[in-house]
Amino acid sequence: MPIVSLQGVTKSYPPATKDGAPVVAVDDVSLDIAQGDVFGIIGYSGAGKSTLVRLINALEPTTSGRLVVDGVDVTTLSERELRRVRGGIGMIFQQFNLFSAKTVRANIAYPLRLAGWAKADIEARVTELLAFVGLSDKARAYPEQLSGGQKQRVGIARALATRPAILLADEATSALDPQTTHEVLELLDRVNREQGVTIVVITHEMDVIQTLATKVAVMENGRVVEQGDVFEVFSNPQNPASQRFVGTVIKGVPSPAEQASLQARHEGRLVTFSFRDGDSSQAQVFLDLAEAGLGFELVYGGINDIRGRAFGHLTLAIRGSDAAIDAALTKIGAHATVTEAARATGAAAAEGEVR
Ligand SMILES: Nc1ncnc2c1ncn2[C@@H]1O[C@H](COP(=O)(O)OP(=O)(O)OP(=O)(O)O)[C@@H](O)[C@H]1O
Ligand SMILES: [Mg+2]
Repeated sequence: MPIVSLQGVTKSYPPATKDGAPVVAVDDVSLDIAQGDVFGIIGYSGAGKSTLVRLINALEPTTSGRLVVDGVDVTTLSERELRRVRGGIGMIFQQFNLFSAKTVRANIAYPLRLAGWAKADIEARVTELLAFVGLSDKARAYPEQLSGGQKQRVGIARALATRPAILLADEATSALDPQTTHEVLELLDRVNREQGVTIVVITHEMDVIQTLATKVAVMENGRVVEQGDVFEVFSNPQNPASQRFVGTVIKGVPSPAEQASLQARHEGRLVTFSFRDGDSSQAQVFLDLAEAGLGFELVYGGINDIRGRAFGHLTLAIRGSDAAIDAALTKIGAHATVTEAARATGAAAAEGEVR
């Protein structure tokens, strides 16, 4: 059974003006998050990501639909019961939201005090959490004495204090530089692997999804337009919004401008071959072209690695008779995805998708 399940969930806000239309922030969203998943939710600003997280966190009621969190249908609960559900969910934020007047230790202890833990248990748990996030030497420091990455480590320790089953991270690394982002993502990965915490990461940064998430949902205008395994969505995005997002981080696919520049600089037909781990071999492409007696040159490419699985794109300029090239591309199309750039001569792009 999924740990978080949304079925046709909609959240709308009253119109901003008297005769305006209601704002549908989340529009008929259905998704399941399995126990132990790192589930990424991506989308441009205003897509509804934070609203979705506030619904999962039971901070706001849904307008319609069914939302089940950790076995409990939160759409039917009283405020008191909701508080218990929220206790099983940790949350971290872009701006860390630490108490500036409290030490690191007191910040982490805060939710445990609220939950009524005994003093000795609090001490032991906080000491353990400080070690886990690598901040044992900062226990007495105040937030203002910490770097952004250290502050987020405190945020993570505090969010995990009561041993929640779910951790929600809304743009948790967006205020950090790339190196610090990487360190925080590694920590979140450990939280998931070592403690089995299900993590929902909201971000507009695709590389966060690429390095951390196992599943991803792409949101646009309140709707989930594509969802699935990160490797599947990244290596073969179906929706235009997903393609735009993925295009910003995927290595090896020339942009239209780069294609034009490649075409101006290289003789022959420009063809991109796409491969995915296990289902094809780039070596076979070279063999097939050589066997057909075609000349070719590698002009663009890149290999992407997502949690140990690779996919890549190679663009070749191929020289030879059109008939020989067409025959070779048909053959290769049986084991790799073949996309030919529109030719400078004005010939239509030949696109063969065979999988
Ligand atoms: N409390 C609210 N009242 C009215 N409209 C709201 C409210 N909260 C969010 N919205 C609207 O809902 C839509 C989705 O907002 P949301 O904050 O969920 O987007 P987001 O995907 O998190 O964006 P960002 O990437 O900028 O954080 C926006 O159009 C926003 O203006
Ligand atoms: Mg947001």
